[in-house]
Amino acid sequence: MRIAIYPGSFDPVHYGHLDLIQRADKLVDRLVVAVLQNEAKQPAFSVEERIQFLREMTKDMKKVEITSFHGLLVDFARQRKAQFIVRGLRAFSDFEFEFQMALMNRKLAPELETVFLMPKEKYSAVSSKLVREIGHFGGDLTELVPELIRERVVSGLLK
Ligand code: PNS
Repeated sequence: MRIAIYPGSFDPVHYGHLDLIQRADKLVDRLVVAVLQNEAKQPAFSVEERIQFLREMTKDMKKVEITSFHGLLVDFARQRKAQFIVRGLRAFSDFEFEFQMALMNRKLAPELETVFLMPKEKYSAVSSKLVREIGHFGGDLTELVPELIRERVVSGLLK
């Protein structure tokens, strides 16, 4: 059984994340999308809201499970008996952080392999930070956030 964890903040989830989930879904038997509970960060959306958005977007994907985790990613991955960590690489600018994290996770858990997937080119400039900023100022999120959750994302950001 091939199990992968796709961890992230998903604050909020956007089309780039969905693209990654669809790509990873083809490679594994179970994909655990895990929202980090990070007490040090002040997120725009609660963990529960972020989980709900992700669940709605992936409700027809039988192999995908949406959950949250806290603490070290490698501990969570071991707990879930995962062999892979999935991360997205959009551009060179992602590389340094991802490289550091992958090597550190490898040091902590050599049996876990980090797998990088690239989203469609049209999503390579999409980030949750930009989605939050555009939404906050009432900009158009049509190309960035799935219709299913767009209204709630916008109303959450305009608060
Ligand atoms: O979507 P993000 O914010 O880029 O995701 C970052 C995330 C959640 C993957 C990373 O911060 C993480 O794994 N945090 C858990 C704590 C941990 O394991 N830190 C050591 C990483 S080497």
